Amino acid sequence: MRKPKVFVTREIPEAGLKLIQDSCDVEIWLEDLPPSKETLIEKVRGIDGLLCLLTDSVDDIVMEAAGSRLKVISNYAVGYDNIDLKCATKRGIPVGNTPGVLTETTADLAFALLLSAARKIVNGSNYVRENKWETWGPKLLLGMDIFESTLGIIGMGRIGQAVARRARGFNMKILYYDHKHRPELGKESSAEICNSIEEVLRCSDFISLHVPLNNETRFSINRESFRIMKNSAILINTARGEIVDQEALYDALSHKVIAYAALDVTTPEPLRGDNKLVLLENCLIVPHIGSASFRTRNKMAVMSAENLLAGLTNEKIPYVVNPEVYDVLQS
Ligand code: NAP
Ligand code: GLV
Ligand code: GLV
Repeated sequence: MRKPKVFVTREIPEAGLKLIQDSCDVEIWLEDLPPSKETLIEKVRGIDGLLCLLTDSVDDIVMEAAGSRLKVISNYAVGYDNIDLKCATKRGIPVGNTPGVLTETTADLAFALLLSAARKIVNGSNYVRENKWETWGPKLLLGMDIFESTLGIIGMGRIGQAVARRARGFNMKILYYDHKHRPELGKESSAEICNSIEEVLRCSDFISLHVPLNNETRFSINRESFRIMKNSAILINTARGEIVDQEALYDALSHKVIAYAALDVTTPEPLRGDNKLVLLENCLIVPHIGSASFRTRNKMAVMSAENLLAGLTNEKIPYVVNPEVYDVLQS
């Protein structure tokens, strides 16, 4: 029997690749950089399944190039803004993601960024490396207290809640905005819902973003948002770069409208070392490493392989982001 043909757009951990290689005819893109759009279009021709990364834009053109055999798209990420979901659904293609397994790892990074920004850890490290450390200074590298401060969480889903659990240990007050009221959180973590993003922005010392990128959230943190925030506010973004108007963020940081930003995600990715945001003293940027722990990346590999294999055998895929596709497939 012919094995299903699969394209994997980068070398993911062995734990997942092995599962796929056992039953599929697999081509893996082995380069360090993602395939270009032209290459992706060329490589997907005639495939039955695609395992892609957040660095691959999978739009109508790619799906059209793949052709009618394409049965499943499995994203090696929980965010799926790189995939044209409407188009996949219209074509009857289930799309899978990797929710849950990266929640705690990403929340750890968000909290690490929060701590680093508040206490100027990287600035301090640079200071030592640059041989500027002469003495203990009463006013040297003063930062913000984390304990008993107010954390505002925008998007109280899996990762937002995991960040709130960490914040509780620091005795922080927690405010949040989400389009869903989650009354259970009031009891669990004494997180208080706010009626608007503006209220969270106005009242918080730290603001951490955890909404998915979609048409509603794109540039939802903008010039007006920075004006509303406290001058001492610290913004943490481990969600997606485009949620923030980055030009407005640069202006806010360089004019001290807000105090600091710590970003795992930017627009575009990568940002080069000479980018004006990268060069700011009050901006800490790391290269999209939210889920980057050995254990979590292995779990994501297995999960994305499971989604792919289920789709290839016409089973309902375990973590589907467009469940309505099954209505399309039935009709
Ligand atoms: P999640 O559980 O779906 O949480 C997102 C929350 O935001 C949900 O409560 C969602 O409500 C809410 N929401 C959606 N649109 C909103 C809007 N317009 N206004 C207010 N709230 C809104 O997702 P997650 O697993 O926590 O992941 C969140 C995001 O983090 C992902 O989409 C991804 O982009 C990013 N991420 C980044 C990294 C990294 O490496 N930096 C790693 C993992 C994830 P509903 O459930 O009702 O839609
Ligand atoms: C990473 O950014 C993810 O969405 O999994
Ligand atoms: C600081 O190191 C102190 O002992 O107060």
